Amino acid sequence: MSKPTYYITTPIYYPSNKLHIGHSYTTVAADAMARYKRLRGYDVMFLTGTDEHGQKIERRAQEEGVSPQAFVDNIVDWIKELWKTMDITYDKFIRTTDAEHKETVQKIFKTLYDKGDIYKSEYEGKYCTPCETFFTEHQLVDGKCPDCGRAVESVKEQSYFFKLSAYQERLIKHIEENPEVIQPQTRQNEMLNNFLRPGLEDLCVSRTSFKWGVPVEFDPGHVVYVWIDALSNYISALGYLQNNDEAFKKYWPADVHLVGKEIVRFHTIIWPALLMALDLPLPKQIFGHGWLVINGGKMSKSVGNVVDPSILVDRYSSDAIRYFLLREIAFGQDGNFTNEALISRINSDLANDLGNLTSRTVAMIEKYFEGGVLPSEHEGNEFDADIKALVAAQIQKAEDNTEKLFFNNALEDIWVIIRRLNKYIDETMPWVLAKDEANKAKLAGVLYTLAEGLRIVSVMIEPFMPQTPEKIWAQFGIERGALTAWDSIHTWGTLPKNITAIKGENMFPRIDKEKELEALEKTSGAAAGTKEESKEAAKEEPKEVKEPEYITIDDFAKVELKIGEVIASERVPKSDKLLVSQIKIGNETRQIVSGIAKYYAPEEFVGKKVVVVTNLKPVKLRGILSEGMVLCAADENDKLVAVGPLADITSGSIVR
Ligand code: ME8
Ligand code: MG
Repeated sequence: MSKPTYYITTPIYYPSNKLHIGHSYTTVAADAMARYKRLRGYDVMFLTGTDEHGQKIERRAQEEGVSPQAFVDNIVDWIKELWKTMDITYDKFIRTTDAEHKETVQKIFKTLYDKGDIYKSEYEGKYCTPCETFFTEHQLVDGKCPDCGRAVESVKEQSYFFKLSAYQERLIKHIEENPEVIQPQTRQNEMLNNFLRPGLEDLCVSRTSFKWGVPVEFDPGHVVYVWIDALSNYISALGYLQNNDEAFKKYWPADVHLVGKEIVRFHTIIWPALLMALDLPLPKQIFGHGWLVINGGKMSKSVGNVVDPSILVDRYSSDAIRYFLLREIAFGQDGNFTNEALISRINSDLANDLGNLTSRTVAMIEKYFEGGVLPSEHEGNEFDADIKALVAAQIQKAEDNTEKLFFNNALEDIWVIIRRLNKYIDETMPWVLAKDEANKAKLAGVLYTLAEGLRIVSVMIEPFMPQTPEKIWAQFGIERGALTAWDSIHTWGTLPKNITAIKGENMFPRIDKEKELEALEKTSGAAAGTKEESKEAAKEEPKEVKEPEYITIDDFAKVELKIGEVIASERVPKSDKLLVSQIKIGNETRQIVSGIAKYYAPEEFVGKKVVVVTNLKPVKLRGILSEGMVLCAADENDKLVAVGPLADITSGSIVR
């Protein structure tokens, strides 16, 4: 009988820079799942890779005076090396510069063109001649080039478009009928309400303004633009429309595409629409995870290379970093990265909980029994039944959570067992039992419970921390096989009764937090990146928290804040984010554009008293003049709430 298949992917990474620790999250998570499924008997295809085309890469290569190919080759080598050090067991690494990938993309483009799903038209954009770059109206800053600040011109470019709008109804229906397709649930509502139901526009899928891309075969001035090239990797990697498409037949549709929350939209709207156009089955699930938020300042300067995953792996081991990432990012939420959080986790969960349980158990068997061998006569105690029941329940929970990709919960489930076993040592007090020869069988029973519990734990952590289990097994003379198979953990008592314990290395030495934080500080200082690199990194980082910097009361006084009353408000046409409001501030009325349309209906906003920044330089947003800013509070999901006075006060009042 052939094994069931499981196809899991990560996004393909932009090699415009070296990856940081946040990027490792997606890959480590996918690796944990791939390993888990292999242990559960699946034939797994785990795909990762790199997204190597586009103007940005072309530019970066130019700046460094190398060809784009040489530029990406260099970073891709580094990425592959990184995945090796993090024990990533991908089955295939796709590069969008692979000849097979380019062939598939060209064939997809041609197929869709022949079917009428891709058509030629005109794309209108803003062009900055010195920078040789197109921008959308939205990207401009004060109507000027966001990069150099110079004036831009309206330019029309011949482009190909994909008829995304034609798939709106089918996409809505598909999501409504298959509610498990987009995870977590909140992202599904976001896609339906913010993008699908308001309506889809056709998508520009080719460019003539740069060369570094897959050429459109039948119109060589054009290169395929971003999403068709990038998204197709999930099927080109399997040989779709190539000579050998066996893997495609075997693994498609994907069981899960694991992606960061900012690209859920492309994976749940553009990608399924493309697949519908190609008459292919749709992926079973798209899982949008949260971000690792970098705390404590500009990434590459002050925290700098400490967020370079290879440095962290060198210092603390791949298992510790993998554990931290999977434990710290809660399902659907962002996790915070600080050196301190990392060290605390290593000390509490790894050194204290798991490390101590292992070393105490091994040390006691060695100390209390000749040659470190447990006798075969064991006697139970009043806590054993509870331990057995708890272990069985936690295995079930951890399996359920892992199946759903809720890794942080699964790890917590496992750690419940570890902490329970540590408590069992205090309850049974083996050192007291050891004082009386008559208690030998009782003592053996206690130590056996600990060893068997630890064996079960070691099997359960293998998908997440692939190096640690072997270190535990070695201390009980266990070899990979029947005693380490996943199914074996469902039967308590599989471990032979006369097990031998052999003390091993300390798996997770306790870290002196203060010294270590100081050392890390120095590492980052010494190896800080170039200014250019830090600028790039800052741009790419999804979310970053600036270092606290004090201002004086005089600085604060520069900001003029007043109470305003919203007297009229309407949506900005063609924008799902912006409201344009007329706000009465004392005797004057100001027009202010705010990005709160998702949280306030215009009619609901009218009549509200809010706090307005009144001396902000006026700007045009979407061509509409905005003379100030309404203060809002934003939570970690970017939900916005306008800020107002706690009691009624006349408009025009100064906030100070
Ligand atoms: O988006 N925490 O590539 P990319 C968690 N090429 N995840 C993070 C993160 C952080 N701090 N920073 C980045 C692209 N990521 C496209 C994808 S797929 C057909 C094309 C995640 O290199 C991010 O959310 O910018 C995304 O899932 C992945 O890294 C790749 O990001
Ligand atoms: Mg990105």
